[in-house]
Amino acid sequence: MSTHIEAKDNQIAKYVLFPGDPLRAKFIAETYLDDVECYNTVRNMFGYTGTYKGVRISVQGSGMGIPSAMIYAEELYNFYHVDTIIRIGTAGAIQKDVHVRDIVFGQGATTDSSVLRNIFDGKAHYSAIASFEVLDCAYHIAQELVNSNQIHVGNLLSSDRFYNQEMDLAKLANYGVLAIEMEAAGIYATAAKYNRRALAMCTISDHILTGEETTAQERQTTFTQMMEVALETIYKLDQKA
Ligand code: HPA
Repeated sequence: MSTHIEAKDNQIAKYVLFPGDPLRAKFIAETYLDDVECYNTVRNMFGYTGTYKGVRISVQGSGMGIPSAMIYAEELYNFYHVDTIIRIGTAGAIQKDVHVRDIVFGQGATTDSSVLRNIFDGKAHYSAIASFEVLDCAYHIAQELVNSNQIHVGNLLSSDRFYNQEMDLAKLANYGVLAIEMEAAGIYATAAKYNRRALAMCTISDHILTGEETTAQERQTTFTQMMEVALETIYKLDQKA
């Protein structure tokens, strides 16, 4: 048991899928996993463990934003000895060739959050990066399961604010940032702290430059594709272990 998770020591698997929305965690567990048990209801931030093709996998809601995601990531790595966290979320695109319904893998995560600065006492600008092993595996699985021009790998912006009119998105886009979300940098930094693995994959739910949006039905369909990529990635990582 940790401060925000009431699971017993062995109730969480070594692989964790990490959606922002706890109800999405419930949906994923009920739709894709067998022999599911709910291990956390604290603050309604639901967590479930089940099996996928025989591999034990947990699904934990992270909440929105770096502070919330870092609470759960820290407790998963530190108290429950989790090895791999895969964030499955949505992001807003800021590049012309990244479209709604595409999938973006966060190779790195730039952030305006003070969290990373504080960890290094302002003396370094730490580059929050994904686990190459997990990214490499997920990228190759995605090439098999998804139209290859819908897959992008690169820099995310993990923004502290959803509503941020001051951020120079054009400059970020010029520097190659693909899309904006709110958690990856914090999860990557926490994985690094514990020498574990993390990857953030996001479906593009809206295009910040063009105003293009997805319908609820489209979000569900693309989310399903991303889920399959995430689950198959964990399956393959487990086969290799
Ligand atoms: N900003 C931050 N997070 C997001 C966005 C956005 O525009 N779209 C989806 N998640």
